[in-house]
Amino acid sequence: MKTRGNMIIKNASELVTCSGSKAKFGKEMRELGIIKDGAVVVEDGIIKAVGTTEEILKKYKEDNYEVIDAKGKAVLPGFVDSHTHFVFGGYRQEEFSWRLNGESYMEIMNKGGGIVNSVRATREASKEELISSAEDRLNSMLSFGVTTVEGKSGYGLDLETELKQLEVMHYLQKTHVMDIITTFMGAHATPGEYKDKKEEFVNVICEEMLPEVAKGNLAEFCDVFCEKGVFSVEESRRILLKARELGMKLKIHADEIVQLGGAELAAELGTISADHLLHASDNGLKEMANKGVVSTLLPTTAFCLKEPFARARYMIDNGSAVALATDFNPGSGFTNSIPLMIALATIYMGMNAEEAVTAITINGAAALDKADSVGSIDVGKKGDIVMLKYPSYKFLPYHTGVNIVEKVIKNGILVHQN
Ligand code: NIG
Ligand code: FE
Repeated sequence: MKTRGNMIIKNASELVTCSGSKAKFGKEMRELGIIKDGAVVVEDGIIKAVGTTEEILKKYKEDNYEVIDAKGKAVLPGFVDSHTHFVFGGYRQEEFSWRLNGESYMEIMNKGGGIVNSVRATREASKEELISSAEDRLNSMLSFGVTTVEGKSGYGLDLETELKQLEVMHYLQKTHVMDIITTFMGAHATPGEYKDKKEEFVNVICEEMLPEVAKGNLAEFCDVFCEKGVFSVEESRRILLKARELGMKLKIHADEIVQLGGAELAAELGTISADHLLHASDNGLKEMANKGVVSTLLPTTAFCLKEPFARARYMIDNGSAVALATDFNPGSGFTNSIPLMIALATIYMGMNAEEAVTAITINGAAALDKADSVGSIDVGKKGDIVMLKYPSYKFLPYHTGVNIVEKVIKNGILVHQN
């Protein structure tokens, strides 16, 4: 049980509510629902009232609450980082150096590095070691204003280690203030023992791993790395359909390195989100938007891979719902920096400040099918709130690459101050 608090935040120069309970598509992404001189009341961890400070203080007695004076500060919903791989053993700093010297991610993967390197270290790590490093990473995320995070397995690639990763996340969901949404990603790479026997490995995922994960109720989502040389569209479809049959929601790493048809598959299956999308086709994106699939873009990964950025401007102009996430992982992008992500999304990907805010709040929540409980400052949602050092959300891209989060509130309790 997480602790829940009673709190009033008052005098916010901008209360950026991001009000809504579902993904915002296209032009809707500019609507932030700002209340000037705003206030919010949280009772027992849940948002009870939202309005101007004058309205709120007429109705609610400050004595009964912890009071935060947000004079001169912008107040926003806690950020939702809807795509990460934060539980892993070991690091891959050597590979990053090779990349700086010109080798590509896929070249490194093909010569036996990449994901399987982290698999080795994650198999070797004890649960306690994984918990301890993951805990540190969650604390760092919290300091950037993240209050809900998604985490994937996929550095085990055998039943035992996949379960170990998922169990670590469940343990941390109980012990850490962060809300953690778990995703099973056994189809992240083919492990050495199944080299040249991918079909057999897909069978293991479908017939052994997925049923066991479902039985233990260990993952809300199933995700697949659908990519040339990793898992084909057909293999991805088979795995995702099996996961759905077992009651899981779906995500997909789609069209990251080449255009393979991952976006089309996401639309066909009606996944909750499709992620990366660097090379997604116009038609695939259109089908996704029509089906209500959230386009989750991961700017720091493209940046660290020196790949071209996803076409955020095109997507929003053509009616997509864009979410932004860090993809924090030990390989393609070892960073959980929200300020760097915002800088890239706005300066290089053509998003404006309003769209970037929507993309890390309500649309991030929608990418996790959680837009009814987090991602906005609305009555009935969790009291997950971020206060900035500055009076406007516009400082998020403007104070480029700098963490301007001052206070982080989770379930109505002040959990972090910078
Ligand atoms: O989202 N693309 C596949 N998976 C991760 C990378 C994982 C790794 O390199 O360890 C990603 O980029
Ligand atoms: Fe990823």
